[in-house]
Amino acid sequence: MANTFDLVSIRKDFPILDQSVNGAPLVYFDNAATTQKPQLVMDALQHYYTKDNANIHRGLHTLAERATSGYELTRKKLAEFLHAPSSDQIIFTSGTTAGINLVAQTFGRANFKTGDVILVSNLEHHSNIVPWQMIAQETGAEVQVIPVDDLGVLNIAAYQSLLSPKVKLVAVNHVSNAIGTINPIKQMIELAHQVGAKVLIDGAQSVAHFEIDVQEYDMDFLAFSAHKLFGPTGVGVLYGKRELLEAMPPYQGGGEMIKEVSFSGTTYNELPYKFEAGTPNIADVYAFGFALDYLKSLPKNAVWDQEKALLDYATEQLAQIDGLRIIGQAPEKIAVVSFVIDGVHPQDIGVLLDKFGVAIRTGHHCAQPLMARYELVGTCRASFAFYNTKEEIDLFVKALKRCIMMLA
Ligand SMILES: Cc1ncc(COP(=O)(O)O)c(C=O)c1O
Repeated sequence: MANTFDLVSIRKDFPILDQSVNGAPLVYFDNAATTQKPQLVMDALQHYYTKDNANIHRGLHTLAERATSGYELTRKKLAEFLHAPSSDQIIFTSGTTAGINLVAQTFGRANFKTGDVILVSNLEHHSNIVPWQMIAQETGAEVQVIPVDDLGVLNIAAYQSLLSPKVKLVAVNHVSNAIGTINPIKQMIELAHQVGAKVLIDGAQSVAHFEIDVQEYDMDFLAFSAHKLFGPTGVGVLYGKRELLEAMPPYQGGGEMIKEVSFSGTTYNELPYKFEAGTPNIADVYAFGFALDYLKSLPKNAVWDQEKALLDYATEQLAQIDGLRIIGQAPEKIAVVSFVIDGVHPQDIGVLLDKFGVAIRTGHHCAQPLMARYELVGTCRASFAFYNTKEEIDLFVKALKRCIMMLA
């Protein structure tokens, strides 16, 4: 495992990177969709199923004890990772989408009524739009939109004018998956709290890139996915303030989330179990803890510095290509470059780049309202992680130029 920022040894920790695709060395620039996993995460999964597999919490035997403590250890690691006041405010879900739906269906159903407003931004992923539209339809609340400017920056003056005591919740991403903008969420949370609104932060694209302190930001809710944080798929995290989580009704009913069940009535379990009905994804939660250990082992700021260098280099190289337009030029961005090329469909670029071993994402990035804002069908998106290199950017740019020549 890496404990200094030595790219050669870091890349060895991610064996998937060392392969050829279509006869060329793999260049994996689709990290915003999902990140690759360090070897120790895969070893943890193997270990869990080889040695510890059992159901958790109620078993009294040794394997049940081991599985439970492995699962709960990840919760503790997450509390530390997020600077949360306690680990029982960390709820395991299946992903960001599940966490947002949980808040919509419990907090939303219990608190929204006709005339209330839910504010989302024009930069959101569909999973931070549709759950609010669904609960708005059910409760009579209305979804309103914080506009975004041509560069991809949220209009904070417009946000301030949309805020009123009618706003019950602001649901906004920390970082846009489609164009990389980092939103000023500390300021946005402060402004929302001034009118009594709560704030849900979609952290899917931020947690892998910089440190999050839920208390410093005064976050009410934060949702994210393990698979975008070098952990396994099928695991998500919902953090919430204690008083909010305690006041919220349970989401799904079943085993684990109850204290007592009888036909005359049922009482619910305490946090966090109230929101974790049924057998959870024990193995992947356990392995996720090792992804957090891995990140902790990297020198502080090294991830950010490496990604910033990649972003600057890629932006500079791409800007030199005739007919290429970068979509999203906010001054505060993570290492994501979204672009379009005059006269060429993004999908054609994506398919051809794959022939050169380069993996990028093309399309609307589950952000159709943002694409509509820029009158685009979609973009090409290259998204970087700390294990990527400038040499890979060179391969990507060279391949892209060849694709353009073939397609134009
Ligand atoms: C900003 C943002 N929100 C939410 C999601 C949904 O995440 P998941 O599919 O892991 O639930 C994504 C995934 O791309 C995302 O980028």
